[in-house]
Amino acid sequence: MAELSSSDGFETLAIHAGQDPDQMTGAVVPAIYQVSTYKQDGVGGVRGGQHAGVTSGPGRWVEGYEYSRTANPTRGALEECLAALEGGVRALAFASGMAAEDCLIRTVCRPGDHVLIPHDAYGGTYRLFDKVFAAWGLAYHPVPVSDPDAVRVAAEQYGATLMWVETPTNPLLSIADISVLAQIAHSAGATLAVDNTFASPYLQQPLSLGADVVVHSTTKYIGGHSDVVGGAIVVPDADLAARLAFMQNATGSAGGPFDAWLTLRGVKTLSVRMDRHCENAMAVAAMLSGHPKVAEVYYPGLAEHPGHEVAAKQMRGFGGMVSFRHAGGEAAAIEMCGRTRLFTLGESLGGVESLIEYPASMTHASVAGSPLAVPPDLVRLSVGIENRDDLIEDLRAALG
Ligand SMILES: Cc1ncc(COP(=O)(O)O)c(C=O)c1O
Repeated sequence: MAELSSSDGFETLAIHAGQDPDQMTGAVVPAIYQVSTYKQDGVGGVRGGQHAGVTSGPGRWVEGYEYSRTANPTRGALEECLAALEGGVRALAFASGMAAEDCLIRTVCRPGDHVLIPHDAYGGTYRLFDKVFAAWGLAYHPVPVSDPDAVRVAAEQYGATLMWVETPTNPLLSIADISVLAQIAHSAGATLAVDNTFASPYLQQPLSLGADVVVHSTTKYIGGHSDVVGGAIVVPDADLAARLAFMQNATGSAGGPFDAWLTLRGVKTLSVRMDRHCENAMAVAAMLSGHPKVAEVYYPGLAEHPGHEVAAKQMRGFGGMVSFRHAGGEAAAIEMCGRTRLFTLGESLGGVESLIEYPASMTHASVAGSPLAVPPDLVRLSVGIENRDDLIEDLRAALG
C-alpha cells in the first residue's frame, strides 16, 4: 500500500484515505462489516487498531472494536476519509444529517444558551431549533449570515454559544464569509459550525478558513447517487472530537455499515461530479437569467450575485444548486415543477440526476410563517450531471 503523503491532493485522498487494500485478501475496496459485536480475547481484550488492512491513521481513533454503535470498521474507513477531505483531525459518521446536527448541538450547547442561525437555512435545521431545542431551553436568533455586521451585533447582544452557518444557504444561495465569521465568533466566545452540504469539501473547506466544526448531510453531494441517507461532523480539535464521539455513542446516532460503504463509494468520484455539477449549473443559471419568465436567479457563480466575490475567494467552484423566482408567481412556479422531463420533481439534492422542487411546500414547509419563510414563487434546482443542452432544453420547455 502506498503511504499517503501530506501533499496528496483532494482527488487522491478521496480514493485512498481510509481505504487501504485489505491486508488479508488484497481487496481494493473496504469490506462491509455488517456486524454488531466483536469477539474479545478475554474480558477487555478487544481487537482492532489495525483492522482488515486499514491502518490506524489520524482519523481512526479506535483502540479496538467492541460494539458497532461505538465503532465499526466500515464506518471508520468513511470517517477517516472524510477527516482527510475536510482537513480535520477526526470525522464522525451519522445515520442522517439531522442526527449529526442533533449530536453537535447537544454536545456544545446547554439549556439557557443562545444560538445564531441563518435567516435562510434548510427547513429541517430550523425545525430542530424551533421545535426540539427551544423546548430544551435553547434560544435561537435568525441572522443574515451574509451580513457580518449584523452577525457581530447579534453575537455580542445574545452572548451566543454557537454560530450556525450555511454557505451557500438553502434555498436562497446566500454566501457567508467564513473567515470573517470565524473571527466574529471567536471574539464573542462562540463555536462556529458550518453546514458544508451545498458546497462539499471539494469546493470549500471551512476548517481551513477558521470554522470550528463542519457538518454534512452526506445524503447529498458526498454520497452523490440518491441511494443513501447519512450525515457527518468533522472537527480539527481532538477534545471536541472526543466529546462528540461520547455523545454519538451515548445517544446511538451512528450510521450503519452498508450506508457507510455506499457513501465511501460515492465520495471517490466527488471531484469529477462536482466539476460537472458546477459547469452545468452555471449554464442553467445563465440561461435562466436571460429568460423572460424568470424574475430573479440565485446562483453565486453569476457576477451580479451579491456574494459572488466572497464565493470566488473561498470556493473552488460555485456548486450545483440554482434557485429562481418564477415571473408568473406562485401558481406558475408550482405548475412548472410538474412539467419537466429530465428534472425529477422531488426533495433532496446533490445526486447525479437533476431534481426540481417547490421549497415553500416541500423542503421548507417547516419555515412557513417564520423569519426563514421562502418566497412563494421560488423554484429550487439541483442541477445534475446529465448532458447540459438536454437540461437547458428541458427547463426552457417547462417554462413554456
Ligand atoms: C443544507 C442541509 N443540511 C442538512 C440537511 C439534513 O440532512 P439529512 O436529510 O441527511 O438528515 C439537509 C437536507 O436536505 C440540507 O439540505
